[in-house]
Amino acid sequence: MLLKIANSYSKAATQCLTVYVGQSGKDKVKTTNKNSIVGELVKKYSASGEFKAGLGETLMLRAAGLENFQNVMLVGIGNTKKLSEEVLRRATAYAYRALRSEKQKASMICFDSTEIFKLKLQVVGHVISEAAELTNYKYTQFLTEAKQHEVKLELVSSKAPDRKALSTGAKEGFLIAESINFSRRVSDAPSNWMTPDQLAKETKKAAKDTGLKVSVWDGAKIQKEKMGSLWGVARGSAQDPRVIIMEYNGAAKSKTPIAFVGKGLTFDTGGISIKPSAGMEAMKYDMCGGANVIGAMLAIAKLKLKVNVVAYIGAVENMPDGLAIKPGDILTARSGKTIEVTNTDAEGRLVMADLLCLASEKKPSSIFTMATLTGAIIVALGHLHTGFFTQDEKLNSKVQDAADRAGEDLWRMPLLDEHQKQMKSAYADIGNMGTPSRAAGSAQAAAFLKAFVANDVPYAHFDIASQMSDMGSYYPYHPDKGACGAMLRTFLEYARKS
Ligand code: BES
Ligand code: ZN
Ligand code: ZN
Repeated sequence: MLLKIANSYSKAATQCLTVYVGQSGKDKVKTTNKNSIVGELVKKYSASGEFKAGLGETLMLRAAGLENFQNVMLVGIGNTKKLSEEVLRRATAYAYRALRSEKQKASMICFDSTEIFKLKLQVVGHVISEAAELTNYKYTQFLTEAKQHEVKLELVSSKAPDRKALSTGAKEGFLIAESINFSRRVSDAPSNWMTPDQLAKETKKAAKDTGLKVSVWDGAKIQKEKMGSLWGVARGSAQDPRVIIMEYNGAAKSKTPIAFVGKGLTFDTGGISIKPSAGMEAMKYDMCGGANVIGAMLAIAKLKLKVNVVAYIGAVENMPDGLAIKPGDILTARSGKTIEVTNTDAEGRLVMADLLCLASEKKPSSIFTMATLTGAIIVALGHLHTGFFTQDEKLNSKVQDAADRAGEDLWRMPLLDEHQKQMKSAYADIGNMGTPSRAAGSAQAAAFLKAFVANDVPYAHFDIASQMSDMGSYYPYHPDKGACGAMLRTFLEYARKS
């Protein structure tokens, strides 16, 4: 854990003091420090325009001569009235990045005055700890000289109850970040290492001693279970697919579970409808939906939430090969529904169709799908939102609340019965491409998935292709290059209130 809660300054951290600074009214600033020296310094740099305390601004003052501290790091949080958990999360991430580039090994976080935060201490501990762990993440598995500069943080409070609240929060923030970092790590791993089998193994390992039950199906079992749609995608690859089933029972056995389904394409070449080679390396991230579902399950279990959840992840590689499916081929899903495959690059929906049949058989209280499903969602939303689809108004408001609590950005997209009609095929019950093709492609994909959800089960779909990786410039706690773990916190928050 990078954040320590202590009752007095430790030697390691006394070199640097990090002070949050907020804007409050015209030309006024408020800080988390009571010492007038800091106040004066802040005023000075604010007047000169060097540090205006806006969110994202940092200023390192060396030899500041403040108490015992050699250096003082000022971190802007913007307008104090607009301060939220997410603002604190981002401000802390900016601070962490600045401390790292200034080569600080440790820093105290100044908390003499917490009034500018108006957040409970437990929440403050949670958010700072989570932000530090998330910002510190770097994928280093294949770097022979992996030098990641870590910054230890310390929060000091002389009051035992305050320390307890901060510690409880810090632990919770750490466990969540650890789960997100698991998702990022397995997604960042190259596809020649992170095969479907490897993902299943890593999931089992991470789930050890968490109370999660993990079952893994191999290709033979998948065929025996009549998952013809998933198997159709898998058969073009030398890598045997896996279906990973995770079960968590934190509530009474009688309580209906919620179900999560994740797309875990360890690589998507497009298959016979092969993708252009430019940028194809990003398709190792086509497993982010599955990875983030696994991470959400880990977090739910580690936090011991009082809820029952079951998750299905389809870990498959989409390759062109002698046995690969070809455009025009027809597959039969587990429910018996037949699918004409007119584009083998629309494979995520084929993998998820069978998982949705399986999930529906459990009769869950709701089903959520998470997938890097369409390039079209990036065209529609850019990278500032995940596309969210549901026809259920109650579920919509619950999900919006969960995303607000999590500080994640989603945007509701249309999902109409008409979109499902566009998925008609002349030769099978449904086609995997819409007509007109690529018109509202993300909604067509969502409508295809919905066709495999049992009618009476409330359903929500998250297309995270727009937020799968490289989001550091939008969210400072995410990597500039690498997987993000998007929507994991939203799934977790939804489970928390279920
Ligand atoms: N994995 C891709 C979607 C994707 C694209 C994710 C870019 C992240 C970044 C998906 O399997 C795919 O190829 N979808 C096609 C669907 C089309 C053939 C209907 C697409 O988006 O073009
Ligand atoms: Zn594809
Ligand atoms: Zn794909």
